[in-house]
Amino acid sequence: MSFKILGTGRFIPPKIVTNDDLSKFMDTSDEWIVERTGIRERHVCTEETTVDMAVEAAKNALENSGVDPSELDMILFTTSSGDYTTPANACLVQARIGATCPAMDVVSGCPAFLFMLDCAAGYFARGRVKKMLCISAERMSRVLDWDDRNTAVIFGDGAGAVVLGEGDSYLTSRLYVRGSTIIQIPNYDGKSPFYTSHAETPWVHMKGQETFKFAVTRLVTDIKDVLSDTSLSMDDIRHIIPHQANLRIIDAARKRFKTREDLFYVNIDRYGNTSSATIPIALDELNRAGKIEKGDYLILSAFGAGLSSASCVIRW
Ligand code: COA
Repeated sequence: MSFKILGTGRFIPPKIVTNDDLSKFMDTSDEWIVERTGIRERHVCTEETTVDMAVEAAKNALENSGVDPSELDMILFTTSSGDYTTPANACLVQARIGATCPAMDVVSGCPAFLFMLDCAAGYFARGRVKKMLCISAERMSRVLDWDDRNTAVIFGDGAGAVVLGEGDSYLTSRLYVRGSTIIQIPNYDGKSPFYTSHAETPWVHMKGQETFKFAVTRLVTDIKDVLSDTSLSMDDIRHIIPHQANLRIIDAARKRFKTREDLFYVNIDRYGNTSSATIPIALDELNRAGKIEKGDYLILSAFGAGLSSASCVIRW
């Protein structure tokens, strides 16, 4: 027993920031950003918090699945840009949607949505849950150094959620970690008069080219690995939903597999990189557009801080 996806949801803050908007206060251009990343615009919070977005995405997914909050047995939540270190952001969602079940955060950088699904599968396998809510919400605009054009142009804000029920849709998964701070958001160092060193500022720091190489290698390896766990071939897969970090990363994987043009889902042009929320947002877009049918096979694949990566195969 693993799970099946009963419903999906998302919340995207309404404020759109285009590349031209950024170039008004940063030494960058629409041409550079589109050519190097594929991003044309991103959505940015003006008053919404990470938990606000999560609550809206959660309500949307519950409605889509026909599940009442009182039926939930567990809420999991991923974020790298939460409102609190403690309490867990999941606890605040629990209260605001009127659920009574246990709730906790799972922290694992951009692939965290897939690490969360793997945790969820364990709860179903042990028979501990019948209905579960999994949310990824990111206010990356809060953790960006807006003076750093290397990072400020590539991220955006948003939230996605899924409601899971008992089933056998989660066919296989692979998780990978090679511990490193190549991408990091250090915590505030505190005010202790006894502590002697000083951490870097609490913004996203990223070695772009090293991250790029890691991303392409893992995306290709992880997709191959999960496919080899099943008896499926690439022709059996309806959609591959890759983490939306850079269109050139997705194109590199697409070329490596010589797949049809639209097999890899792309929406980075509209949202930028919303960290752990990219995959559930994409999943909800496909689901609501009627582009996933019962029995379709999907590969979800993500990479990022950790360094970590994860992939899985899902039968819809
Ligand atoms: N606008 C204009 N110029 C920029 C710029 C921007 N926003 N950001 C960087 N540049 C400049 C650099 O300063 C550099 O100039 P120089 O040659 O005069 O020194 C030049 O562009 C090339 O920089 P480089 O860092 O080599 O660019 P790149 O092609 O590697 O693209 C990233 C940078 C960040 C877009 C790319 O490395 C990337 O996407 N990496 C992976 C990110 C990722 O996957 N993150 C995942 C986190 S989950």
